[in-house]
Amino acid sequence: MSDRRPVLVVGSGGREHALAVALARNAPVVVVPGNPGMASTAHAFPISVSDLDPTAHDVQLVVIGPEAPLVDGLADQLRGLGRVVLGPGADGAQLEGSKTFMKELLDAAHVPTAGFGTFTSVAEALEFLETMSPPYVIKTDGLASGKGVLVTDDVAEARDDVIDKLMGESFGAAGRRIVIEEGLTGIECSLLALCDGKRVFALTPAQDFKRLMDGDLGPNTGGMGAYTPMPSIRPEEVASLVATTIQPLVSAFIDLGIDYRGVLYAGLMLTSSGPKVLEFNARFGDPETEVLLPLLQGNLVELFTKIGNGELEDVQPATGAAVCVVLAAPGYPEAPRGGMPISGLGPDGQLANPREGVTVFHSGTVRPDPEGPFLVKGGRVLAVTAVGASLREARTRVYDAVAQIHFDGMQYRTDIALEAAQREELG
Ligand code: AMP
Ligand code: GLY
Repeated sequence: MSDRRPVLVVGSGGREHALAVALARNAPVVVVPGNPGMASTAHAFPISVSDLDPTAHDVQLVVIGPEAPLVDGLADQLRGLGRVVLGPGADGAQLEGSKTFMKELLDAAHVPTAGFGTFTSVAEALEFLETMSPPYVIKTDGLASGKGVLVTDDVAEARDDVIDKLMGESFGAAGRRIVIEEGLTGIECSLLALCDGKRVFALTPAQDFKRLMDGDLGPNTGGMGAYTPMPSIRPEEVASLVATTIQPLVSAFIDLGIDYRGVLYAGLMLTSSGPKVLEFNARFGDPETEVLLPLLQGNLVELFTKIGNGELEDVQPATGAAVCVVLAAPGYPEAPRGGMPISGLGPDGQLANPREGVTVFHSGTVRPDPEGPFLVKGGRVLAVTAVGASLREARTRVYDAVAQIHFDGMQYRTDIALEAAQREELG
C-alpha cells in the first residue's frame, strides 16, 4: 500500500513552490514556511525554519530547499529521528557554506576550476589582485545568497570591493574572508545531479540569467530566469561533463567519509580550454528548479525517497523544453520595495486566464487578506514557467503569460532563452 503520509518541503521560494507542485502529483505536501501562492498545492506552516520542530511532523520524506538549514545541520537532525531526507548533512553542505572548503576539495579531486587565492588581509588581497588580469572576480567566502560576487573589468572597482568585503561592512561576517578568482569567459551552465551517496543522475543542463537586465547588464541577482535544455550542449556531452566535474567530487566525498544524499549543483563555465567549475551548491538552484522539475516525468516522491535511502536506480530522462521568467520587485536587488497589488492572477495564484503549459511559481508574494489580491513582498516575486515541445514554443508561451501579469515597478528580462531558441532553430 502506498504511504499516504505527507512530504515536507522546507523553504519559501519559487524553487520550493516548484518542488511542492512536482511532489503533490504523488503525495500530500506540507511546507515550512511556504508562501501564500502555494496554498492550492500544499499546506503551509508559516513559521521560521529555525523554529521547525523536527519531531512535529509525521512525514514520509523531507526535501530541504535552501542552503542555510543544510549548512546548519537540519538534515542530520532529521536523519537522527529516522526521517528520509533529500539534502546533505552539515558535512557535505560545507561545499556551499565555505568557498574555501569547496575550492580545496575540487583541487584535491582534480576538478578543473578557476585559479584563486583566499584572503583575510586587505594588503595581501590587494597585492594578489595586482597579479590578476581582467575580468576580476571577488567573492565572499560564506553564504551571501548569490549576491556576494563582483565580476568587473575595472581594477579600481575591484580594489574597493576587496576593501568593502574585508572590512566586514557589505556582507557582515560572511565577508571577512574573500576569494579572488581567475576571471573565466565562455558559456555558463548549471548542471544539477541527484546523488544518493554513490551514484548520480544528472538533470538536463540549464542556463540561469544572473544579471538584472537584458544583454547581461546590471548587477548580479539570485537569477532572473532560466531555461533547459541547452542547445549548445549535445546530450552525449552531458555524460562527459558529469565525469569531469561531478563524479570526482562524489568520489572525494566517499574518501572523506561523507555520505552525500541530495543535489549537487555545479555552476560551470564552458571555456575554450574545457569546462571549469565556478561554484558548487548543495541544493536545487532557483530558478533552475522551476524549469527542471516540470519536465521530469514519473513519481518524484519515490525517486527522492530512493535517493534519501541511498538506493538510486535508473531514472527516466526529461523530454521537452521549459523557460522561466522571473518578475522582480522594484529596487531589486539592492533595495527591493513591496506592498503593490499584482494583477492578472486568480484566487489560486495562477494566471487568471490560464494558458497551456504555464505555471506561476510564487516567491516574494504576500496575501494579507485571504480573499484579496496577492501583493508584492519584495525580491524575486514570481517565477513564471512554461513548458513546450521546443524552447521556441515554451518561450512564446511564457512571455504571453508574463504579458498578463502586472505590478508597479515590475522588473523582468525580455531576452531569457532568446539566443538558445534561435540556435535551436538552426539545429
Ligand atoms: P557564483 O555565486 O560563484 O556562482 O557567482 C555568480 C556569478 O558570477 C556566476 O554565475 C558568474 O556569472 C559570475 N562568476 C563567478 N565566478 C566567475 C569567474 N571565475 N569568472 C567569470 N565569471 C564568474
Ligand atoms: N540560480 C542560482 C542559484 O540557485 O544559486
